[in-house]
Amino acid sequence: MSEITELEARLMADVAATADEAALEAVRVAALGKKGAVSALLATLGKMSPEERKTQGPLINGLKDRLGEALSARRAALRDAALDQRLATETVDVTLPLPDGPLDRGRIHPISQVIDELTAIFADMGFSVAEGPDIETDDYNFTRLNFPVGHPARDMHDTFFFPPKEDGSRLLLRTHTSPVQVRTMLSQEPPIRVICPGRTYRCDSDQTHTPMFHQVEGLVIDKGSHLGHLKWILAEFCKAFFEVDQVKMRFRPSFFPFTEPSLEVDIQCRRDKGEIRFGEGEDWLEILGCGMVHPNVLRNCGIDPDVYQGFAWGMGIDRIAMLKYGMPDLRAFFEADVRWLDHYGFRPLDFPTLAGGLSG
Ligand code: DAH
Repeated sequence: MSEITELEARLMADVAATADEAALEAVRVAALGKKGAVSALLATLGKMSPEERKTQGPLINGLKDRLGEALSARRAALRDAALDQRLATETVDVTLPLPDGPLDRGRIHPISQVIDELTAIFADMGFSVAEGPDIETDDYNFTRLNFPVGHPARDMHDTFFFPPKEDGSRLLLRTHTSPVQVRTMLSQEPPIRVICPGRTYRCDSDQTHTPMFHQVEGLVIDKGSHLGHLKWILAEFCKAFFEVDQVKMRFRPSFFPFTEPSLEVDIQCRRDKGEIRFGEGEDWLEILGCGMVHPNVLRNCGIDPDVYQGFAWGMGIDRIAMLKYGMPDLRAFFEADVRWLDHYGFRPLDFPTLAGGLSG
């Protein structure tokens, strides 16, 4: 047997005898590494005469190739065997509860939750959602809503104004969601049925007021809409939102420049050791302003008040959120304290629906 055939037989036996990848690597290094037996043979080719190289070259290279193939095949076999062994010993219990992931730790802010809740309720009554910008013109926030220039009702809004532009006009942070009424009437043909939830701003801060707060506006414009419809909508909303069978409501006369007549709505409640219950009790709690849209507003928005009429309401979202979920201080809503959010927030996958339950 030639030296090469002998070496090949020995190396092949070594390969076959390996029990793991580390041993296999040792065999590879011993044969093909810098100081390996096969590498040493390959190095001898350089010193051979051309005739000798012709016969020895294919023999040595053939050994190198076959050894390479044997090493790969053995490596694959060892890997398969190792995997089979792992699969046989490791088992996964798919019935074990999952550890907390980011989805379990994240919380939906009560404001977002309440906006989702009221959107679900009004969507069920056929309302769509309209939106407008936080930065408004004086025209949309006041003038078209029938606040004449210089009217004292403007001052009551504690408005944040931007510096005047060259033409003297000033942009402002909207003080209510009512300008979205204007935008909707200017861009849509009646019949109109929208709610407009969003951020609003007034220069005011105490336990129940923050400079940025949230309102939801409602607007219905049609030929035959009247206060009876408004009362029904608001009563249905309150029952669904506070999740009670009955609510008693009280409509008091009020004043808003953009409605005539204007009303404020209280709901009956009972205050019990800091808790508020609706649908019972002797107390009244104001929750919104509303009325029939003033003919001037309709006219200012391109709608003929002799053909169409409508009603609107505006409600503080933060306030109804505080009432429903018993959160005493509005300022905490916007402090971004994760402990507060952990306590009062909602789980992200419990999306409110009328069928599945609003507040989970
Ligand atoms: N915009 C009023 C406010 O912020 C609330 C309001 C009252 C809106 C009556 C209305 C309404 O649409 O009809 O104080």
